[in-house]
Formats: sequence, structure tokens, C-alpha cells
Amino acid sequence: MKPALISGIQPTGKLHIGNYLGSLKNFVELQNSEKYRCYFFIADLHSLTEDFDPKEKPGQILTVALDYLSAGIDPKKSIVFVQSKIPAHSELAIILNNFSPTGELKRMTQFKDKSERQAENVNMGLFDYPVLMASDVFLYDAAVVPVGEDQVQHLELARTLARRFNNKFGKTFMEPKPFLTEAKRIMSLDNPEKKMSKSSPAGCLFLDDEPETIREKIKRAVTDSGHEVKCDPESKPAISNLIRIYAGFMNETTEIVEKKFKNKGYGDFKKDLAETIIRSLTPFQKKKKELIKKSAAVKKVLAAGNRKAGMVAGQKIEEVKEQLGLSID
Ligand code: TYM
Repeated sequence: MKPALISGIQPTGKLHIGNYLGSLKNFVELQNSEKYRCYFFIADLHSLTEDFDPKEKPGQILTVALDYLSAGIDPKKSIVFVQSKIPAHSELAIILNNFSPTGELKRMTQFKDKSERQAENVNMGLFDYPVLMASDVFLYDAAVVPVGEDQVQHLELARTLARRFNNKFGKTFMEPKPFLTEAKRIMSLDNPEKKMSKSSPAGCLFLDDEPETIREKIKRAVTDSGHEVKCDPESKPAISNLIRIYAGFMNETTEIVEKKFKNKGYGDFKKDLAETIIRSLTPFQKKKKELIKKSAAVKKVLAAGNRKAGMVAGQKIEEVKEQLGLSID
């Protein structure tokens, strides 16, 4: 049997090109490689860790489903589902909590960052975020998890957790490996020291942005002193980020991009970059506009995915309970 692969995206608003180049584009390529049994889900339980409006949630969940399908996730090849529809995710997280030392969770960079950013709402869900993530992965025996760099620490914790659990109760969980792209950490367009993030929309380029908006945002993106199109993250963090974006969309290495713009300045490079992004996103945007009109069909895809994922996860949670002596009937 092929190894399993899983990943998820939170429904918290529009996806940006960091989400795309760091994860979604990779999901599609890995799916099409036909090397894995793929699961892609909408991490709606994780999205409750930040302030939200329940009225907006259904639309946000549907939007991630539309983004998946528009980017090329094919329900005939991958199982697409909604996390909260599979009770085993929450159940396993509650179980794994007992084997997750609070000291390890306190060290998580994302927990520390988010605790600062939302100081008025430092909740248990935020603290427990990596344990729920481990549950998402363990339930499907996933060996590979395509994510951006900001999630690697969470997966390291999952590996530790799997090892600890297996040592204590016998082999139960796989140790999942992160799968990163070259574009594993796309930086903000207005500050190359900060990660591109939905929480700072000013520095984001969204997958739904119109061509004119893309041209404008790329034109305004900060650059470094000098004029050479050269990837040097230390001394030229801004232009290096733009080169990585270009390379990501073109499936080229940063060296090839450097060569292409060897005798050109930032202006020419930025113009070409904007057109490259527009060209690359056009099929996605076109497909999304079509799919928006077919939301009933998209919901059917999710319902079918929920059923299939539920069966796999349901079996696994029973296996876990058995290992722990929780099955008396
Ligand atoms: P989320 O929705 O915050 O992010 C979705 C994916 O986008 C990646 N990403 C980036 N990659 C490159 N550059 C950026 N600036 C950038 N910003 C975000 C993230 O690393 C992520 O891969 N916790 C996950 C969701 C999740 C999950 C899981 C993933 C829940 N359970 C189990 C894998 C396995 C998250 O960060 O989603």
C-alpha cells in the first residue's frame, strides 16, 4: 500500500501566496505524483483558537474547499474533508493530552507568538494546538505532511509524542515527516523580516487578488538598496523573498531566476514578477469563479470525503483505545 500523506489549512479568511507556495501548490503536485494516499482537510477546529464570528465560519470553510478544488485537488485522487465532522480528531487529542508535557507545549514558537498577538485571548485551544495537529496526522497513519516552515516545530512535537506513546503502549503511531518546498517561508511584502500572514493583510498577496491589485502590490513591495536581482537573504532579504516567489510560481531554482535578470534592475524584475503571478493564478481564479456557482456540488464532495475519512479515523481511534485498555465490550 502507498504511504499516506495529510495536511490541512485553517478556514480563517482568504489564502495568500505564502499558503499557496508553501503548502497548497505542493499538495497538488504530491497528489499528482500518485506516490501517496492523500488526505486534505479543512482545519476548522484549529480556527476556533482565534477570535471569530460564527456567522462567517460556514463561508470560510466552503472557501478553503473551493481553494483546494480550484488549485487542482481532485476528489477522485484525494480525500477532502472537514476536521470537525470527524469526532475522532477531538477524541484523540483528549487522549494524547495525557502524554503531552505542558513544558513541551510552552516552548512552541507559534504559541508564544500568538499569545503576544492575542494577549486578551490566550486560551487552552491555542496551547493545545499541536496536540490536535498530532491527532489529525496520527489518525490516518500519515508518513508525510506537506507544510510551511512555521509548522515544522509542531510536527517535531508530534514525532516525539508518537515515540513516547509507542514506547509505552506498543507500536501505534507513525512518526510523521514534514515535507517542505523551497518557498517554505514567504515573507511579508511590506516587511521582509516578518512572515507573510493573514494576521497582517497589508503585506499579503491573496490568491483572489485582481490583476491590477497584484501589479500594484508588487510595485509597492519593499526592496533593498542596490539594484542587482540577487538572492542573498542576509543582506538583501526583500529582493530574495521576491526571487523566491518568482521561482515558486515558475518551478525554477532561485539561481535560474538570478541568471534571467542578470543585467536587469528591480523595476524590470518586478514587472515580470507581477505578470508571472497573474498568469499563474488565472486558471485558479477562473476555476474558483465557476465552482462558486456550484456550491451544492462542493458540499457533496466534502460529505463524501467526510464519510471516507470517518471510516479510517474511526478504526484508528478504536485501535488506540484498545492499546490503552479502554475497550471492555
Ligand atoms: P494555516 O492555515 O495557518 O496555514 C496553512 C499552510 O500554509 C503554510 N504557510 C506558509 N508557508 C510559507 N510561507 C508563509 N508565509 C506561510 N504562511 C502559512 C503553513 O505552514 C501551512 O502549511 N496548523 C496548520 C493547519 C493544520 C495542519 C494539521 C497541517 C492543522 N492540522 C495537520 C498539517 C497537518 C496551519 O498552520 O494552517
